[in-house]
Amino acid sequence: MHQAAPSNSVASRDIAFHLHSQTNPKLLEEAGPLVITRGEGARIYDADGKSYIDAMAGLWCVSLGFANRRLAEAANRQYEELGFYHTFFHRTGEAVAELAEKLVELTGMSGGKAYFATSGSEANETMVKLAWIYHAARGKPSKRKIIARDKAFHGSTIAAASMCGLPFMHREFGLPLPGFLHTLCPSPYRGMLPGEDETAFVERLANELERLILREGPETIAAFIAEPIHAGGGIIVPPASYFERIQAVLTKYDILCLDDEIVCGFGRTGNWFGKETVGMRPHMMALAKGLSSAYFPISAVVMAPEIYDAVHSFNRQGGAFGHGFTNSGHPVGVAVALEAIRIYEEMDVVSHARRMGARLRGHFDEMARTSPIIGEVRGEGLMLGIEIVADKQTRTPFAPDCQAGLLFDRFAYDNGLVARCMGDVLGFSPPLIIDEKDVDDIAERCAVSIRQLEAHLSKTA
Ligand SMILES: Cc1ncc(COP(=O)(O)O)c(C=O)c1O
Repeated sequence: MHQAAPSNSVASRDIAFHLHSQTNPKLLEEAGPLVITRGEGARIYDADGKSYIDAMAGLWCVSLGFANRRLAEAANRQYEELGFYHTFFHRTGEAVAELAEKLVELTGMSGGKAYFATSGSEANETMVKLAWIYHAARGKPSKRKIIARDKAFHGSTIAAASMCGLPFMHREFGLPLPGFLHTLCPSPYRGMLPGEDETAFVERLANELERLILREGPETIAAFIAEPIHAGGGIIVPPASYFERIQAVLTKYDILCLDDEIVCGFGRTGNWFGKETVGMRPHMMALAKGLSSAYFPISAVVMAPEIYDAVHSFNRQGGAFGHGFTNSGHPVGVAVALEAIRIYEEMDVVSHARRMGARLRGHFDEMARTSPIIGEVRGEGLMLGIEIVADKQTRTPFAPDCQAGLLFDRFAYDNGLVARCMGDVLGFSPPLIIDEKDVDDIAERCAVSIRQLEAHLSKTA
């Protein structure tokens, strides 16, 4: 992206010393990093002063924009009072208790409890361990396997990565671990067979899940984990009856339902939580990202009362819950999260995300009418995807070596728009504070980039 830089520049020191996440090392060395220096609202600025509208809110997380003063002040106030304390051995703080109470109330997990961690991966791994305790405490210690779905993204630690249904998360590491299984992804656009309607599709997915459970033995399966709407797998919205039908199978075999709300939570899909958007009734929910608008690394698991009861009864002889992170319930993290939630409530994040989402979707639907390469526009609220295809009628994808999605990202970048290609699905998950003007700006830059991509592809065809 940037040309050869002086040897003491940020770019050259970065290349010399920094191993990046989700980055090809050789490409980074050749093209150099993009140095981001500051942000304001939905916009970020690079070291050359170029501005971008970040339609991915960083990594689906900066819901309140890039330089929110209230969040900075909440962090500062807390840093000046108590910069760290932990939650081991009975310790707590006022904001820890307040945030736990607020999360239980917001998620509707009445009678339940909240547990704090620092990343989405840790929250998902915590749900797995809680599922193991739950079954063990009820005399079913053999129920340990976890079922996730193809195209899922659940994080980068070992169990979380094992639950991902994306080969690039497994390839270098010999994952998934034994005991982490995958079932079909509920993608109507890519998964439905010719002649199948949504009802028949959902029936097939549920039957396939049941076959997997019976093959493995129901007495070995602890839990099923799902994002309400797949994020990193390509913004996949399941058919309306999907979760109801899947949950009937889970209930039949005494399998817990774990809800990864790490992207979908806090208004993203046009409801407080994605589970409301898709009709999911989970036993546990993992929250991160929007929880603090990513201003502090904090995550949480909110659990139904029966999960807590299991931890309680497992340890009734005096043992302690053998789990915890140094920064679980970090005072600054909880203070920032409480302030973020206050702002979400004041701005009525749910109706704002619905209105802005509908406007952005309207623009995308309009583009799809005339573009020869937009196969589908999908998503809910401010979590939208555009799938580009070689042939709209037959849904034929572009040849992989044509890298159409990546080309779109490059055109968008030149046009000052940060989107995110997931293969040939172009993702849009902007800060939830965007207004009409920002929405129109994203749509305009996207339209220009799509037209440039069309022109480029027709030249190289
Ligand atoms: C749906 C989902 N779950 C879990 C994670 C992992 O979160 P973290 O990177 O904070 O560990 C992510 C990260 O993008 C995610 O999108």
